[in-house]
Amino acid sequence: MRFSTKAIRAGQSPDPSTGSIIVPVYQTVNFIFDDVARPHAFEYSRSGNPTRTALEQCLASLEEARFGLTFSSGMAAVDAVLSFMRPGDHVVSTEHIYGGTLRLFEQVYRPRGVSFAYVDGTRPQAFAEAMRRSTKLVWIETPANPLLQLVDVRAVAQITHQHGARLAADNTFSSPYFQRPLTQGADVVMHSTTKYVSGHSDVIGGAVVTNDDRLYEEVKFYQNAAGAVPGPWDCWLSLRGLKTLAVRMRQHEANAQAIAEFLQKHPKVQETIYPGLPSHPQHELARMQMDGFGAIVTFRLGGGVEQVRRLVKALKVFLFAESLGGVESLACHPATMSHATLTAEERQKAGITDGTIRLSVGIEDVADLIEDLEQALQSC
Ligand SMILES: Cc1ncc(COP(=O)(O)O)c(C=O)c1O
Repeated sequence: MRFSTKAIRAGQSPDPSTGSIIVPVYQTVNFIFDDVARPHAFEYSRSGNPTRTALEQCLASLEEARFGLTFSSGMAAVDAVLSFMRPGDHVVSTEHIYGGTLRLFEQVYRPRGVSFAYVDGTRPQAFAEAMRRSTKLVWIETPANPLLQLVDVRAVAQITHQHGARLAADNTFSSPYFQRPLTQGADVVMHSTTKYVSGHSDVIGGAVVTNDDRLYEEVKFYQNAAGAVPGPWDCWLSLRGLKTLAVRMRQHEANAQAIAEFLQKHPKVQETIYPGLPSHPQHELARMQMDGFGAIVTFRLGGGVEQVRRLVKALKVFLFAESLGGVESLACHPATMSHATLTAEERQKAGITDGTIRLSVGIEDVADLIEDLEQALQSC
């Protein structure tokens, strides 16, 4: 089956007891045993639930993985991948990662004796230079938030494996529709399913997919042991979101490309960053390793926070909010929102100026989105 068909059918056979074509919400804690020491297919919903299994199988299939596991949030999924780190272990990570991931690394795992090195993800050689004998995991986010730098997944996978470590990729920004890192050498892929996978800004969730039997067993053990599992309703919402992932992503991307081209020509915009623009320094790599360029567009104004304030106040269709990946378009100010915990110096080093704005482009009529940006830019 091809992607769009899998998104609608994988893991979702008609319900055997009723014939329902939609996987039901199995809102139950426990399941009957057939005999002493002989559970039926499921026992207890922390360990497994049929609605969750359908979502896990569908996600695995879309990422071309054999195994999928879902969690109550993207952060719980990151934590599950990290769970096999022991004191003395070392992790090499791209320097531009989601702030919550950085907080988990630095404030939860570092105090437990795990060490981290952060490298420029655009330079595969930087990973090779940072590897140590104790490096167990390499963590990448590509494209990265909010400046959309890419990691060459194949090159970094090769370096990781030469050193006997595992490569984990946060694939949230691309969704499995635009990028499947397992097919390029990653060992494990993580998603905040809160974003494109669910797609409607109404559910928090996370997922881990892999082809590695041992890694699957380790993460599955942790999923049950720590218990950060999604409820059946949340799984059902994500499953429903997945059915339209392909059509949504195509529209997200078409709108993002048009907006990036509009912003690039606008006299008030200093710089527009989008992997689909030939001006993006890694446009060729994006063409090679992705099936599309995604729907996050970042641009810079020269006037700092005051100008940004005037712009976001003038926006009527774009909503001024954090997060991404929903059908509605959002504008976010990384310096005071997603990256507010960084010091001014750290932000400057990361290239996140006060005039940087990140758009999560939705699937509304693109003419309304461009008109909205035009009138807001005029008034800022
Ligand atoms: C790239 C990325 N990874 C992980 C997360 C964490 O996911 P969640 O908010 O579902 O816990 C986010 C959230 O914004 C994210 O953008």
